[in-house]
Amino acid sequence: MVEEEETSSSVSLPVAGPAVPYGQIEQQDAIRIQTGNQEFDRVLGGGIVAGSLVLLGGEPGIGKSTLLLQIAEALSSQQRRVLYVAGEESVQQIKLRGERIGIRGANLLLSSETCLEHAFHEASQIKPDVLIVDSIQTVFTEKLGSVQGSIGQIRECTGQLLNFAKREQISTFLIGHITKDGSLAGPKALEHLVDTVLYFEGDRHQNQKIIRAVKNRFGPANELGIFQMTGKGLICVENASRLFLSERPAQVPGSVVLCAIEGTRPVLVELQALVSQTSYSTARRTANGVDPSRVALLLAMLEKRVGLHLLGSDVYVNVAGGLALTEPAIDLALVMAIISSFRDRPISQSTVVFGEVGLAGEVRAVNLADCRVKEAALLGFERVVLPKSNLPLPDPQNGLKITGCTAVQECLDWLDSRK
Ligand code: TYD
Ligand code: MG
Repeated sequence: MVEEEETSSSVSLPVAGPAVPYGQIEQQDAIRIQTGNQEFDRVLGGGIVAGSLVLLGGEPGIGKSTLLLQIAEALSSQQRRVLYVAGEESVQQIKLRGERIGIRGANLLLSSETCLEHAFHEASQIKPDVLIVDSIQTVFTEKLGSVQGSIGQIRECTGQLLNFAKREQISTFLIGHITKDGSLAGPKALEHLVDTVLYFEGDRHQNQKIIRAVKNRFGPANELGIFQMTGKGLICVENASRLFLSERPAQVPGSVVLCAIEGTRPVLVELQALVSQTSYSTARRTANGVDPSRVALLLAMLEKRVGLHLLGSDVYVNVAGGLALTEPAIDLALVMAIISSFRDRPISQSTVVFGEVGLAGEVRAVNLADCRVKEAALLGFERVVLPKSNLPLPDPQNGLKITGCTAVQECLDWLDSRK
């Protein structure tokens, strides 16, 4: 239960004027500012859109402030003015971090204002190109009497920031804290208000930092930005597949490489399954990075259609590198990883697998098969196992062996014929 104060003036949008006939509306491309930070521009769909409001969420300590400080520096070095409103930390603390990561900040202004009305006043005078609010939980509006960080404050402040961004054409970034289980009402309740929602994925202990565009009014949703945290801040990862495969064990049963498409980019990732005899009364099933109910469904299919007796086995599934995979194209790799571990037979290291699997054990076509195969060829893989219905490929890759499957059973037979 959250106490909410009644507001007399809810967010009032500027008067829009009379309705306009569709045909008379001039087409306008969004004006974008390129920050020069490849991964950041990519996750936004090609740069910062003028006047847009972007929410950057993630658990504490994952790198939100570091990233936006670096973006502020990139903009500042292009002679663009940035106002960084920091309620979270003192300006000295930010300076300390800035010195560590080589921020010069020629056109960067810091303010420790937490009152939104004062911050707007400041921004109207400074007229920055980009405004950063770190964090939305620490600012408050005088309109409401409730404490900062309360859901009413967060929502009202975001509404006001949205109006301000649109009216003044100042691109605005809001940092929002999210707890590990994502349950915090704050940022989640703002998703519908803002233009773009970016979330840090995975946990803060891993070095690679993945940012996903969960929503984007100006670009493809699910686009990823991939970074690595170093002593000098976050650096862009140029080849995501290489990063995700860098720690792959050699010839271990249960490990399989798949090609997923996240946003517009293909990424090769290692999927791991561990199947072992259970010592519990009901077998345990744990899935990291994939939907546990998808795993349960595929296990039931393997039991019924392929005749694998998995009921007495614990099954653990993990996506290496902390990426969350949601598309059905990962099914076939899941199935193969489970079978590989169950039978204790490794799948060749130079093989990439993708395809959707149905309840009857049939292997179904996936989108962008061509793009996935190209990525596999690019990274030097020798074979791709994919749905037969995706063949023939419009652009076959020289030297790459292609195995098309129509049913899971075929993959099994194929696996058996390998040794
Ligand atoms: P931070 O950006 O403050 O996280 P958030 O704003 O999301 O709470 O910092 C994240 C972590 O990154 C912090 O534990 C320290 C670490 N870090 C580095 O490893 N290298 C660096 O150059 C910086 C600035 C921070
Ligand atoms: Mg911070």
